Amino acid sequence: MSLFKKETVARKLPRHIAIIMDGNGRWAKKRSMPRSAGHVAGAKTFKNIARYCNKIGLEYLTVYAFSTENWKRPKDEVESIMNLLRDYLKDAENFKSDNIRVKFIGNLEPLADDIKELIKKDEDGSKDATGLNLNIAINYGGRDEITNAVKQIVKSGISAEDITEQTISDNLFTANMPDPDFIIRPSGEYRLSNYLIWQSAYAEYWFSDVLWPDFKPKHLEKAIDDFNHRNRRFGGV
Ligand code: FPP
Repeated sequence: MSLFKKETVARKLPRHIAIIMDGNGRWAKKRSMPRSAGHVAGAKTFKNIARYCNKIGLEYLTVYAFSTENWKRPKDEVESIMNLLRDYLKDAENFKSDNIRVKFIGNLEPLADDIKELIKKDEDGSKDATGLNLNIAINYGGRDEITNAVKQIVKSGISAEDITEQTISDNLFTANMPDPDFIIRPSGEYRLSNYLIWQSAYAEYWFSDVLWPDFKPKHLEKAIDDFNHRNRRFGGV
């Protein structure tokens, strides 16, 4: 027997991964397809990656599906994303068998009534799941979320001296969740785009040129490997 036993160090999973699902439009353009086809492919990747995260035992996954700024896109593109959301929600039973708990974050008020009903059904139907906590950000904007939190705090009547960072966190859509410790953005863009701007204060970031529809579990594995080599000091030494 060798004196030098090979040590295998268990890899550390982030607790909460947040993904900006970017690059659907360019993926479609490269194939001379309409942008909506890119979103269809992106939605497939989303389901695949969510299931994979559940399989490896991740606690929280938050995906950016539609931002407060995305309403500026052409009407038919907005429609196509909303229809994908409808399809996903109607198909939510499939996800239930995966033991995934789903929550939607963002200002859901302006969404169509049928979507809001389906969202409620999906959240209620999956609330006892004990696997992955999946957050889907729809009509989400970090600044909008913080503004909303401030309004809630003022309305609660709390005195200014009693407001702490925790008070703000408790009034965000992500209240009671750990902050994302790992943010992934594919498609070669290096921006946060108003995503989880309060929560990501100490997150690690991972960027890749892969377009979201091409993003596979092997890319996530590479990202997690890289996360394991980061030295997180949280402002200490
Ligand atoms: C950004 O890529 C992507 C979006 C704004 C939409 C993301 C939506 C999905 C992946 C579908 C989600 C569906 C469900 C069911 C949650 P882009 O269009 O900005 O791409 P580009 O930068 O290449 O133009």
